[in-house]
Amino acid sequence: MQERGTFGRLGFVLAAAGSAIGLGNIWKFPYITYANEGGTFVLIYLVAIVAFGAPIMFAEILIGRNTTQSPVSAFSALSSSLQKSKAWVLTGWLGIAAGFVILSYYSVVAGWTIYYFGKCMTWSFNGFGPEQAANLGKDFGAFLGNGPLQILFHALFMGATMGVVILGVKGGIERSTKILMPVLFSILVLLCGTSIFTPGFGDAIGFLFHIGPLSADAILEAVGHAFFTLSLGMGAMITYGSYVSKKDSILKASFQVCLLDTVIAIMACVIMFSIIFSVPEAERATTFSKSATILFTTLPRMFYELPGGAILSPIFYLLVGFAALSSTISLMEVVVAYFIDEKGWARKKATLLVGGGIFLFGIPSALSLGASEFFSNAKILGDKSTGIFETMDYLASNWLLPVGGLLTALFVGWALPNAFTQAELEEGHGPFPYHAAWKFLLRFICPIGILCVIWNVA
Ligand code: PFF
Repeated sequence: MQERGTFGRLGFVLAAAGSAIGLGNIWKFPYITYANEGGTFVLIYLVAIVAFGAPIMFAEILIGRNTTQSPVSAFSALSSSLQKSKAWVLTGWLGIAAGFVILSYYSVVAGWTIYYFGKCMTWSFNGFGPEQAANLGKDFGAFLGNGPLQILFHALFMGATMGVVILGVKGGIERSTKILMPVLFSILVLLCGTSIFTPGFGDAIGFLFHIGPLSADAILEAVGHAFFTLSLGMGAMITYGSYVSKKDSILKASFQVCLLDTVIAIMACVIMFSIIFSVPEAERATTFSKSATILFTTLPRMFYELPGGAILSPIFYLLVGFAALSSTISLMEVVVAYFIDEKGWARKKATLLVGGGIFLFGIPSALSLGASEFFSNAKILGDKSTGIFETMDYLASNWLLPVGGLLTALFVGWALPNAFTQAELEEGHGPFPYHAAWKFLLRFICPIGILCVIWNVA
Protein backbone atom coordinates (compact mmCIF):
# COMPACT_ATOMS: atom_id res chain seq x y z
CA MET A 1 0.00 0.00 0.00
CA GLN A 2 1.19 3.53 -0.71
CA GLU A 3 1.99 6.04 1.99
CA ARG A 4 -1.02 8.20 2.92
CA GLY A 5 -0.85 11.88 3.69
CA THR A 6 -2.80 13.52 6.51
CA PHE A 7 -4.61 16.84 6.51
CA GLY A 8 -3.57 19.72 8.73
CA ARG A 9 -6.15 20.83 11.32
CA LEU A 10 -7.83 23.56 9.29
CA GLY A 11 -7.04 21.63 6.14
CA PHE A 12 -9.54 18.92 6.93
CA VAL A 13 -12.46 21.23 7.67
CA LEU A 14 -11.74 23.17 4.51
CA ALA A 15 -11.28 20.08 2.38
CA ALA A 16 -14.44 18.44 3.75
CA ALA A 17 -16.32 21.73 3.36
CA GLY A 18 -14.79 21.95 -0.11
CA SER A 19 -16.28 18.55 -0.94
CA ALA A 20 -19.65 19.43 0.56
CA ILE A 21 -19.96 22.95 -0.84
CA GLY A 22 -20.26 22.89 -4.57
CA LEU A 23 -22.78 22.86 -7.36
CA GLY A 24 -25.18 21.14 -4.96
CA ASN A 25 -25.46 24.38 -3.00
CA ILE A 26 -25.14 27.04 -5.64
CA TRP A 27 -26.65 25.40 -8.70
CA LYS A 28 -28.85 22.47 -7.65
CA PHE A 29 -30.46 23.52 -4.37
CA PRO A 30 -31.91 26.79 -5.72
CA TYR A 31 -33.33 25.12 -8.83
CA ILE A 32 -34.92 22.16 -7.08
CA THR A 33 -36.29 24.48 -4.41
CA TYR A 34 -37.79 26.68 -7.14
CA ALA A 35 -39.25 23.65 -8.93
CA ASN A 36 -40.73 22.32 -5.66
CA GLU A 37 -42.32 25.63 -4.62
CA GLY A 38 -39.92 26.48 -1.76
CA GLY A 39 -41.12 26.48 1.86
CA THR A 40 -41.99 22.93 2.85
CA PHE A 41 -39.25 21.53 0.64
CA VAL A 42 -36.66 23.68 2.44
CA LEU A 43 -38.04 22.62 5.81
CA ILE A 44 -37.80 18.88 4.99
CA TYR A 45 -34.28 19.47 3.71
CA LEU A 46 -33.27 21.20 6.97
CA VAL A 47 -34.80 18.40 9.06
CA ALA A 48 -32.91 15.83 6.96
CA ILE A 49 -29.61 17.68 7.50
CA VAL A 50 -30.05 17.61 11.28
CA ALA A 51 -31.64 14.16 11.68
CA PHE A 52 -29.69 12.18 9.05
CA GLY A 53 -26.89 14.37 7.70
CA ALA A 54 -24.89 15.30 10.80
CA PRO A 55 -25.12 11.86 12.51
CA ILE A 56 -24.11 10.03 9.34
CA MET A 57 -21.26 12.46 8.76
CA PHE A 58 -19.83 11.62 12.22
CA ALA A 59 -20.20 7.94 11.29
CA GLU A 60 -18.42 8.21 7.94
CA ILE A 61 -15.48 10.24 9.22
CA LEU A 62 -15.16 7.87 12.17
CA ILE A 63 -14.91 4.83 9.86
CA GLY A 64 -12.32 6.56 7.68
CA ARG A 65 -10.14 7.84 10.49
CA ASN A 66 -10.21 4.58 12.40
CA THR A 67 -9.25 2.41 9.46
CA THR A 68 -7.22 4.91 7.40
CA GLN A 69 -8.70 3.18 4.39
CA SER A 70 -10.97 4.04 1.50
CA PRO A 71 -14.58 2.76 1.76
CA VAL A 72 -14.34 -0.78 0.34
CA SER A 73 -11.20 -1.64 2.33
CA ALA A 74 -12.57 0.18 5.41
CA PHE A 75 -15.82 -1.84 5.52
CA SER A 76 -13.95 -5.06 4.88
CA ALA A 77 -11.26 -4.32 7.54
CA LEU A 78 -13.82 -3.42 10.22
CA SER A 79 -16.19 -6.28 9.49
CA SER A 80 -13.43 -8.86 9.62
CA SER A 81 -11.70 -7.44 12.74
CA LEU A 82 -15.06 -7.32 14.58
CA GLN A 83 -16.24 -10.65 13.12
CA LYS A 84 -19.23 -9.19 11.32
CA SER A 85 -20.73 -10.22 8.00
CA LYS A 86 -18.54 -9.65 4.94
CA ALA A 87 -21.62 -8.32 3.14
CA TRP A 88 -21.07 -4.84 4.61
CA VAL A 89 -18.43 -4.36 1.97
CA LEU A 90 -21.29 -3.86 -0.48
CA THR A 91 -21.78 -0.42 1.06
CA GLY A 92 -18.31 0.52 -0.16
CA TRP A 93 -19.07 -0.81 -3.63
CA LEU A 94 -22.28 1.14 -3.79
CA GLY A 95 -20.27 4.27 -2.97
CA ILE A 96 -17.87 3.68 -5.83
CA ALA A 97 -20.80 3.26 -8.21
CA ALA A 98 -22.36 6.49 -6.90
CA GLY A 99 -19.07 8.40 -7.28
CA PHE A 100 -18.72 7.21 -10.84
CA VAL A 101 -22.29 8.15 -11.78
CA ILE A 102 -22.36 11.53 -10.00
CA LEU A 103 -19.03 12.71 -11.38
CA SER A 104 -20.10 11.82 -14.93
CA TYR A 105 -22.86 14.46 -15.02
CA TYR A 106 -21.56 16.81 -12.32
CA SER A 107 -18.54 17.54 -14.48
CA VAL A 108 -20.85 18.61 -17.32
CA VAL A 109 -22.43 21.34 -15.15
CA ALA A 110 -19.03 22.25 -13.73
CA GLY A 111 -17.87 22.80 -17.31
CA TRP A 112 -20.67 25.37 -17.76
CA THR A 113 -19.01 27.55 -15.10
CA ILE A 114 -15.84 27.79 -17.21
CA TYR A 115 -17.92 28.76 -20.25
CA TYR A 116 -19.78 31.40 -18.22
CA PHE A 117 -16.52 32.74 -16.92
CA GLY A 118 -15.60 33.43 -20.56
CA LYS A 119 -19.04 34.77 -21.40
CA CYS A 120 -18.98 37.22 -18.48
CA MET A 121 -15.54 38.40 -19.54
CA THR A 122 -17.05 39.27 -22.93
CA TRP A 123 -19.98 41.08 -21.29
CA SER A 124 -17.63 42.92 -18.96
CA PHE A 125 -15.64 44.24 -21.91
CA ASN A 126 -18.44 44.76 -24.44
CA GLY A 127 -21.19 45.85 -22.10
CA PHE A 128 -24.27 44.15 -20.65
CA GLY A 129 -27.55 45.93 -21.25
CA PRO A 130 -31.29 45.15 -21.31
CA GLU A 131 -30.89 43.22 -24.55
CA GLN A 132 -28.32 40.85 -23.03
CA ALA A 133 -30.47 40.47 -19.91
CA ALA A 134 -33.52 39.56 -21.99
CA ASN A 135 -31.55 36.95 -23.93
CA LEU A 136 -29.96 35.14 -20.99
CA GLY A 137 -32.37 32.20 -21.21
CA LYS A 138 -32.15 31.89 -24.98
CA ASP A 139 -28.34 32.07 -24.94
CA PHE A 140 -28.13 29.38 -22.34
CA GLY A 141 -30.49 27.12 -24.31
CA ALA A 142 -28.33 27.52 -27.40
CA PHE A 143 -25.22 26.61 -25.41
CA LEU A 144 -26.90 23.46 -24.03
CA GLY A 145 -27.87 22.44 -27.55
CA ASN A 146 -24.29 22.69 -28.82
CA GLY A 147 -22.91 19.14 -28.50
CA PRO A 148 -19.22 19.78 -29.28
CA LEU A 149 -19.10 22.65 -26.75
CA GLN A 150 -20.80 20.52 -24.08
CA ILE A 151 -18.25 17.75 -24.58
CA LEU A 152 -15.34 20.20 -24.71
CA PHE A 153 -16.16 21.83 -21.35
CA HIS A 154 -16.92 18.46 -19.75
CA ALA A 155 -13.48 17.29 -20.96
CA LEU A 156 -11.77 20.43 -19.63
CA PHE A 157 -13.29 19.93 -16.21
CA MET A 158 -12.45 16.25 -16.02
CA GLY A 159 -8.89 17.16 -17.04
CA ALA A 160 -8.61 19.75 -14.26
CA THR A 161 -9.96 17.27 -11.69
CA MET A 162 -7.50 14.60 -12.79
CA GLY A 163 -4.65 17.11 -12.55
CA VAL A 164 -5.38 17.83 -8.88
CA VAL A 165 -6.10 14.21 -7.93
CA ILE A 166 -2.73 13.15 -9.40
CA LEU A 167 -0.97 15.62 -7.07
CA GLY A 168 -2.48 13.82 -4.07
CA VAL A 169 -4.02 14.94 -0.81
CA LYS A 170 -1.53 17.40 0.60
CA GLY A 171 -0.27 18.92 -2.60
CA GLY A 172 -3.52 19.24 -4.47
CA ILE A 173 -6.65 19.11 -2.38
CA GLU A 174 -5.71 20.98 0.76
CA ARG A 175 -3.80 23.80 -0.88
CA SER A 176 -6.47 24.70 -3.42
CA THR A 177 -9.42 24.85 -1.02
CA LYS A 178 -7.64 26.89 1.65
CA ILE A 179 -7.54 29.98 -0.53
CA LEU A 180 -10.61 29.67 -2.72
CA MET A 181 -13.41 28.87 -0.31
CA PRO A 182 -13.08 32.06 1.77
CA VAL A 183 -13.10 34.23 -1.38
CA LEU A 184 -16.23 32.54 -2.72
CA PHE A 185 -17.93 32.99 0.62
CA SER A 186 -17.10 36.72 0.63
CA ILE A 187 -18.65 37.26 -2.82
CA LEU A 188 -21.79 35.40 -1.73
CA VAL A 189 -22.06 37.62 1.36
CA LEU A 190 -21.76 40.69 -0.85
CA LEU A 191 -24.46 39.43 -3.23
CA CYS A 192 -26.72 38.52 -0.35
CA GLY A 193 -26.31 42.02 1.10
CA THR A 194 -27.19 43.49 -2.29
CA SER A 195 -30.27 41.29 -2.65
CA ILE A 196 -31.85 42.98 0.39
CA PHE A 197 -32.25 46.10 -1.72
CA THR A 198 -33.95 44.39 -4.66
CA PRO A 199 -37.75 44.69 -5.00
CA GLY A 200 -38.11 40.88 -4.97
CA PHE A 201 -36.35 40.30 -1.64
CA GLY A 202 -39.52 40.14 0.49
CA ASP A 203 -41.24 37.70 -1.88
CA ALA A 204 -38.09 35.60 -2.06
CA ILE A 205 -38.02 35.19 1.71
CA GLY A 206 -41.77 34.47 1.73
CA PHE A 207 -41.29 31.81 -0.96
CA LEU A 208 -38.43 30.18 0.97
CA PHE A 209 -40.32 29.88 4.23
CA HIS A 210 -44.03 29.46 3.43
CA ILE A 211 -45.55 26.08 4.25
CA GLY A 212 -47.66 24.19 1.72
CA PRO A 213 -48.36 20.62 0.52
CA LEU A 214 -45.53 18.46 -0.85
CA SER A 215 -45.56 15.22 -2.88
CA ALA A 216 -43.82 12.01 -1.75
CA ASP A 217 -41.39 12.38 -4.65
CA ALA A 218 -40.45 15.87 -3.52
CA ILE A 219 -39.80 14.59 0.01
CA LEU A 220 -37.46 11.93 -1.38
CA GLU A 221 -35.75 14.63 -3.42
CA ALA A 222 -35.24 16.84 -0.32
CA VAL A 223 -33.81 13.93 1.69
CA GLY A 224 -31.67 12.77 -1.23
CA HIS A 225 -30.37 16.30 -1.62
CA ALA A 226 -29.34 16.43 2.05
CA PHE A 227 -27.03 13.48 1.31
CA PHE A 228 -25.85 14.96 -1.97
CA THR A 229 -25.01 18.36 -0.56
CA LEU A 230 -23.08 16.96 2.41
CA SER A 231 -21.27 14.42 0.18
CA LEU A 232 -22.70 11.57 2.25
CA GLY A 233 -23.80 8.05 1.45
CA MET A 234 -21.00 7.24 -0.96
CA GLY A 235 -17.90 7.13 1.17
CA ALA A 236 -16.43 10.54 0.25
CA MET A 237 -16.28 11.44 3.93
CA ILE A 238 -14.87 7.98 4.74
CA THR A 239 -12.11 8.62 2.22
CA TYR A 240 -11.42 12.13 3.55
CA GLY A 241 -11.75 10.84 7.13
CA SER A 242 -8.93 8.42 6.36
CA TYR A 243 -6.60 11.40 6.04
CA VAL A 244 -7.70 13.04 9.32
CA SER A 245 -5.25 13.14 12.18
CA LYS A 246 -6.15 11.50 15.52
CA LYS A 247 -5.56 14.90 17.13
CA ASP A 248 -8.58 16.44 15.42
CA SER A 249 -12.18 16.41 16.63
CA ILE A 250 -14.50 14.60 14.23
CA LEU A 251 -17.54 16.15 15.90
CA LYS A 252 -16.41 19.73 15.71
CA ALA A 253 -15.27 19.41 12.11
CA SER A 254 -18.55 17.76 11.03
CA PHE A 255 -20.63 20.39 12.75
CA GLN A 256 -18.72 23.19 11.04
CA VAL A 257 -19.07 21.54 7.65
CA CYS A 258 -22.85 21.00 8.04
CA LEU A 259 -23.37 24.58 9.16
CA LEU A 260 -21.29 26.20 6.42
CA ASP A 261 -22.89 24.04 3.77
CA THR A 262 -26.43 24.91 4.85
CA VAL A 263 -25.75 28.62 5.21
CA ILE A 264 -24.28 28.79 1.71
CA ALA A 265 -27.22 26.90 0.17
CA ILE A 266 -29.75 29.24 1.79
CA MET A 267 -27.71 32.29 0.77
CA ALA A 268 -27.64 31.09 -2.83
CA CYS A 269 -31.44 30.76 -2.75
CA VAL A 270 -31.95 34.22 -1.27
CA ILE A 271 -29.78 35.78 -3.96
CA MET A 272 -31.36 33.97 -6.91
CA PHE A 273 -34.96 34.23 -5.74
CA SER A 274 -34.56 37.95 -5.06
CA ILE A 275 -33.63 38.37 -8.71
CA ILE A 276 -36.42 36.08 -9.93
CA PHE A 277 -39.10 37.79 -7.85
CA SER A 278 -37.93 41.22 -8.94
CA VAL A 279 -39.20 40.42 -12.44
CA PRO A 280 -42.97 41.11 -12.83
CA GLU A 281 -45.06 37.97 -12.36
CA ALA A 282 -46.40 37.96 -15.93
CA GLU A 283 -42.88 37.74 -17.36
CA ARG A 284 -41.41 35.44 -14.76
CA ALA A 285 -42.39 32.09 -16.28
CA THR A 286 -40.94 32.95 -19.67
CA THR A 287 -37.79 34.56 -18.23
CA PHE A 288 -36.76 31.86 -15.75
CA SER A 289 -37.54 28.23 -16.44
CA LYS A 290 -37.82 26.05 -13.33
CA SER A 291 -34.89 23.99 -14.44
CA ALA A 292 -31.18 23.44 -14.22
CA THR A 293 -30.54 26.81 -15.82
CA ILE A 294 -31.28 29.38 -13.12
CA LEU A 295 -27.74 29.87 -11.81
CA PHE A 296 -26.78 31.08 -15.28
CA THR A 297 -29.88 33.05 -16.14
CA THR A 298 -30.32 35.05 -12.92
CA LEU A 299 -27.03 36.33 -11.56
CA PRO A 300 -25.67 38.35 -14.49
CA ARG A 301 -28.70 40.64 -14.05
CA MET A 302 -27.61 41.53 -10.54
CA PHE A 303 -23.89 41.70 -11.17
CA TYR A 304 -24.09 44.20 -14.00
CA GLU A 305 -26.15 46.59 -11.90
CA LEU A 306 -23.62 46.58 -9.10
CA PRO A 307 -20.67 48.95 -9.01
CA GLY A 308 -17.65 46.76 -9.79
CA GLY A 309 -19.97 44.05 -11.13
CA ALA A 310 -18.06 43.83 -14.38
CA ILE A 311 -15.08 42.58 -12.38
CA LEU A 312 -17.06 40.49 -9.90
CA SER A 313 -19.19 38.52 -12.34
CA PRO A 314 -16.42 36.60 -14.15
CA ILE A 315 -14.66 36.07 -10.82
CA PHE A 316 -17.87 34.65 -9.36
CA TYR A 317 -18.34 31.98 -12.05
CA LEU A 318 -14.66 31.12 -11.79
CA LEU A 319 -15.03 30.60 -8.05
CA VAL A 320 -18.16 28.49 -8.48
CA GLY A 321 -15.99 26.45 -10.85
CA PHE A 322 -13.41 26.07 -8.08
CA ALA A 323 -16.10 25.10 -5.56
CA ALA A 324 -17.20 22.46 -8.07
CA LEU A 325 -13.57 21.37 -8.49
CA SER A 326 -13.14 20.75 -4.76
CA SER A 327 -16.23 18.52 -4.98
CA THR A 328 -15.23 16.69 -8.17
CA ILE A 329 -11.83 16.00 -6.57
CA SER A 330 -13.55 14.21 -3.69
CA LEU A 331 -15.84 12.28 -6.02
CA MET A 332 -12.89 11.08 -8.06
CA GLU A 333 -10.76 10.42 -4.98
CA VAL A 334 -13.29 7.81 -3.75
CA VAL A 335 -12.93 5.79 -6.93
CA VAL A 336 -9.16 6.36 -7.32
CA ALA A 337 -8.40 5.51 -3.66
CA TYR A 338 -10.08 2.14 -4.20
CA PHE A 339 -7.67 1.19 -6.97
CA ILE A 340 -4.69 2.47 -4.97
CA ASP A 341 -5.65 0.74 -1.69
CA GLU A 342 -7.13 -2.48 -3.05
CA LYS A 343 -5.28 -3.07 -6.28
CA GLY A 344 -1.97 -1.44 -5.44
CA TRP A 345 -2.07 0.78 -8.54
CA ALA A 346 0.10 3.89 -8.71
CA ARG A 347 -1.92 7.11 -8.16
CA LYS A 348 -1.19 8.35 -11.66
CA LYS A 349 -2.35 5.19 -13.41
CA ALA A 350 -5.50 4.99 -11.26
CA THR A 351 -6.39 8.63 -11.93
CA LEU A 352 -5.86 8.44 -15.68
CA LEU A 353 -7.92 5.28 -16.13
CA VAL A 354 -10.73 6.26 -13.76
CA GLY A 355 -10.91 9.82 -15.12
CA GLY A 356 -10.93 8.63 -18.72
CA GLY A 357 -13.70 6.12 -17.98
CA ILE A 358 -15.89 8.68 -16.21
CA PHE A 359 -15.39 11.20 -19.00
CA LEU A 360 -16.65 8.71 -21.59
CA PHE A 361 -19.56 7.67 -19.39
CA GLY A 362 -20.53 11.35 -19.04
CA ILE A 363 -20.81 12.06 -22.78
CA PRO A 364 -24.46 10.92 -23.10
CA SER A 365 -25.33 13.24 -20.16
CA ALA A 366 -23.50 16.12 -21.84
CA LEU A 367 -25.56 15.58 -24.99
CA SER A 368 -28.87 15.07 -23.24
CA LEU A 369 -29.86 18.67 -22.58
CA GLY A 370 -30.77 19.46 -26.14
CA ALA A 371 -27.78 18.47 -28.28
CA SER A 372 -29.04 14.96 -29.05
CA GLU A 373 -32.75 14.17 -29.45
CA PHE A 374 -32.15 10.57 -28.55
CA PHE A 375 -30.31 11.19 -25.26
CA SER A 376 -32.47 14.20 -24.35
CA ASN A 377 -35.76 12.30 -24.61
CA ALA A 378 -34.66 8.90 -23.31
CA LYS A 379 -37.02 7.71 -20.57
CA ILE A 380 -35.06 4.87 -19.02
CA LEU A 381 -37.05 5.01 -15.79
CA GLY A 382 -40.45 5.77 -17.28
CA ASP A 383 -41.98 9.04 -16.09
CA LYS A 384 -39.51 9.54 -13.23
CA SER A 385 -37.00 11.36 -15.39
CA THR A 386 -36.44 12.51 -18.94
CA GLY A 387 -33.04 12.39 -20.62
CA ILE A 388 -29.80 10.75 -19.52
CA PHE A 389 -28.59 13.70 -17.42
CA GLU A 390 -31.76 13.82 -15.35
CA THR A 391 -31.85 10.03 -15.02
CA MET A 392 -28.28 9.86 -13.68
CA ASP A 393 -29.01 12.61 -11.16
CA TYR A 394 -32.27 10.97 -10.11
CA LEU A 395 -30.65 7.56 -9.63
CA ALA A 396 -27.62 8.81 -7.76
CA SER A 397 -29.16 11.49 -5.54
CA ASN A 398 -32.49 9.89 -4.80
CA TRP A 399 -31.46 6.24 -4.55
CA LEU A 400 -27.74 5.43 -4.38
CA LEU A 401 -26.89 8.07 -1.76
CA PRO A 402 -29.86 7.53 0.60
CA VAL A 403 -29.37 3.74 0.45
CA GLY A 404 -25.62 4.18 1.04
CA GLY A 405 -26.40 6.44 4.01
CA LEU A 406 -28.90 3.92 5.37
CA LEU A 407 -26.35 1.09 5.25
CA THR A 408 -23.67 3.27 6.86
CA ALA A 409 -26.06 4.20 9.68
CA LEU A 410 -26.94 0.52 10.25
CA PHE A 411 -23.28 -0.52 10.19
CA VAL A 412 -22.05 2.08 12.68
CA GLY A 413 -25.26 1.92 14.74
CA TRP A 414 -25.54 -1.86 15.09
CA ALA A 415 -22.33 -3.57 13.96
CA LEU A 416 -19.75 -1.33 15.68
CA PRO A 417 -19.67 -1.77 19.50
CA ASN A 418 -20.45 1.26 21.67
CA ALA A 419 -17.08 1.26 23.42
CA PHE A 420 -15.38 1.35 20.03
CA THR A 421 -17.42 4.23 18.58
CA GLN A 422 -17.28 6.24 21.80
CA ALA A 423 -13.49 5.93 22.02
CA GLU A 424 -13.06 6.95 18.38
CA LEU A 425 -15.33 10.00 18.64
CA GLU A 426 -13.69 11.16 21.86
CA GLU A 427 -10.19 10.87 20.43
CA GLY A 428 -9.03 14.42 19.67
CA HIS A 429 -12.27 15.83 21.16
CA GLY A 430 -12.57 14.93 24.85
CA PRO A 431 -15.71 13.55 26.55
CA PHE A 432 -18.80 13.26 24.33
CA PRO A 433 -21.86 12.94 26.59
CA TYR A 434 -24.33 12.55 23.71
CA HIS A 435 -22.88 9.31 22.39
CA ALA A 436 -25.99 7.28 23.36
CA ALA A 437 -28.33 9.78 21.69
CA TRP A 438 -26.23 9.71 18.52
CA LYS A 439 -26.27 5.90 18.48
CA PHE A 440 -30.04 5.98 18.91
CA LEU A 441 -30.34 8.24 15.86
CA LEU A 442 -28.16 5.89 13.81
CA ARG A 443 -29.92 2.74 14.98
CA PHE A 444 -33.51 3.83 14.70
CA ILE A 445 -34.26 7.34 13.47
CA CYS A 446 -32.02 7.40 10.38
CA PRO A 447 -32.94 3.91 9.11
CA ILE A 448 -36.66 4.25 9.80
CA GLY A 449 -36.79 7.77 8.38
CA ILE A 450 -34.89 6.88 5.20
CA LEU A 451 -36.88 3.65 4.72
CA CYS A 452 -40.20 5.47 5.14
CA VAL A 453 -39.22 7.99 2.50
CA ILE A 454 -38.04 5.31 0.07
CA TRP A 455 -41.13 3.16 0.77
CA ASN A 456 -43.43 6.02 -0.01
CA VAL A 457 -41.99 6.53 -3.45
CA ALA A 458 -41.18 2.99 -4.56
N1 PFF B 1 -21.56 17.82 -2.08
C1 PFF B 1 -21.30 18.19 -3.44
C2 PFF B 1 -22.15 19.40 -3.79
O1 PFF B 1 -23.04 19.77 -3.02
O2 PFF B 1 -21.94 19.98 -4.84
C3 PFF B 1 -21.52 17.07 -4.42
C4 PFF B 1 -20.90 15.77 -3.98
C5 PFF B 1 -19.52 15.72 -3.78
C6 PFF B 1 -21.68 14.68 -3.72
C7 PFF B 1 -18.94 14.57 -3.31
C8 PFF B 1 -21.14 13.52 -3.24
C9 PFF B 1 -19.76 13.48 -3.04
F1 PFF B 1 -19.22 12.40 -2.59
